[in-house]
Amino acid sequence: MHDNILEMKGIEKCFSQVKVLKDVDFLVKRGEVRALVGANGAGKSTLMKILGGVLIPNKGEIFLNGEKVNFHSPREAINCGVSIIYQELSLIPTMSIYENVYLNRERTNYGILQKKRMKSDYEKLAGELKFGIPANVKASSLNIANQQLVEIMKALSIDADIIVMDEPTTSLTESEKEKLYETIKSLKQRGKTIIYISHLLREIFQIADSITIMRDGEIVGNFRRNEITQMEVAGLVMNKSMAAVSADRERIRDLSGNPVVLKTENITKTGVLNNINLVLKKGEILGLAGLLGAGRTELCRTLCGDLAFESGRILLNGKECRFKLPSDAIRAGIGLIPEDRKNMGLILKHPVYNNSTIVCLKNLSKFGIVSKKKQYNYANRQVSRLNIKVSDIKNQAGTLSGGNQQKVVISKWFEGDLQIYVFDEPTKGIDVGAKEDIFRLIEMFAEGGASVIFVSSDLEEVLRISDRIMVMSKGRITKEFEKKNFDLQKITAFCMDISEEGDIYAG
Ligand SMILES: Nc1ncnc2c1ncn2[C@@H]1O[C@H](COP(=O)(O)OP(=O)(O)OP(=O)(O)O)[C@@H](O)[C@H]1O
Ligand SMILES: [Mg+2]
Repeated sequence: MHDNILEMKGIEKCFSQVKVLKDVDFLVKRGEVRALVGANGAGKSTLMKILGGVLIPNKGEIFLNGEKVNFHSPREAINCGVSIIYQELSLIPTMSIYENVYLNRERTNYGILQKKRMKSDYEKLAGELKFGIPANVKASSLNIANQQLVEIMKALSIDADIIVMDEPTTSLTESEKEKLYETIKSLKQRGKTIIYISHLLREIFQIADSITIMRDGEIVGNFRRNEITQMEVAGLVMNKSMAAVSADRERIRDLSGNPVVLKTENITKTGVLNNINLVLKKGEILGLAGLLGAGRTELCRTLCGDLAFESGRILLNGKECRFKLPSDAIRAGIGLIPEDRKNMGLILKHPVYNNSTIVCLKNLSKFGIVSKKKQYNYANRQVSRLNIKVSDIKNQAGTLSGGNQQKVVISKWFEGDLQIYVFDEPTKGIDVGAKEDIFRLIEMFAEGGASVIFVSSDLEEVLRISDRIMVMSKGRITKEFEKKNFDLQKITAFCMDISEEGDIYAG
């Protein structure tokens, strides 16, 4: 048997004359977990789309088990045992989740659809993954994390030899990530080969046997995990030393004299939010911690006029307000930078400059007419500020790499002059360098007197940036921590609802 299950040799790919992959050699051994890392736009997803038959390379060859293959469609790749979880989720919203899992591979007997069998296969797989959502639920009613889990099931159900995961954990909470790591381990034990794309160095060092680093369309290094440190990987990804970056925000800021800008009284929506009372001060960064389904996203959306509630009050600067639409909230000075960039944050078919100026058009207009020049200037400023990788701001947002799309979503808000910024998972899918940039911007907002609500599934991030943390569980606020009492373990326990402090931390 051939030692390398996969060999991609001399791969080149151009998009309208721009070469995004340059003579890439990518070799993977059978049965290993290979991490593929690199900055946003480095070419990771493009390389994997070529492997998956979604894109055709301009040059280069692919060998599976030493045999040359030429994929012209995803189907051909699947038939050769290559299964890919793409970064852009692609479920069909009107279909149930089991139908999505077996889409295009429906189980039939003499042409008759075997729904029962598909459902029971689904349930078996869901059981293995400890995924508790029934087969018949429509994909449209799933939140993004559950959609991601269904995508993972879809890939696993193919029983492929090579499984590619393109940032599979971006929307998952810690416990779901752990479940996925367990799944990866058991796949490896069954002799499967995994290619794993992620920006989270911690998780890469936890699961990968070896690491390939890409930069600007080239591979700049292949290492066994024990040959390299996390800092060195970050340095190679960014092409600079990371020692100076990522200083912790240790200073405790005195906010005691600051006025309250936002207050909620018993906000309730049956089954979603239960008597939410929160207070946010001017200049404060409030972190929301909790597991998937705890109600963090729903709370963010409620505060910003994107989700109606049944009872309770929202007070902005002491005055009650009822927002019918997100635009009402923005006018009042509170804006949501949403979690689900594909559905809520970006218009993929519109050019980048349109997307990045959509919030502040008013400031860029005179007598109701939008100045294109001002739009371009704004967009160009954001592109350089956030280091967004795009050759022309007139390009469609959909042609940007995943992480760069996320940067565009965030860039909309920078000169919007809001009083309160609500960030729901802003660092999802963003490379280490850009993450630091976003943290610095959030701090800048706070120093400038704006207030911030910050949600992230990465609890360490929440601890790093917040002045105060509220833990949510099952739609309620269950605990609050001041910065001086931050403790990762303790907060994790509260997120998981292992409530009484004495029980777990006796002694
Ligand atoms: N359909 C397309 N048309 C034009 N350019 C594209 C297209 N798809 C990708 N690109 C460009 O190719 C480059 C590599 O993108 P790719 O998606 O492979 O990056 P990535 O390494 O996966 O980044 P990320 O970490 O942000 O997901 C980017 O500059 C991107 O804008
Ligand atoms: Mg990508």
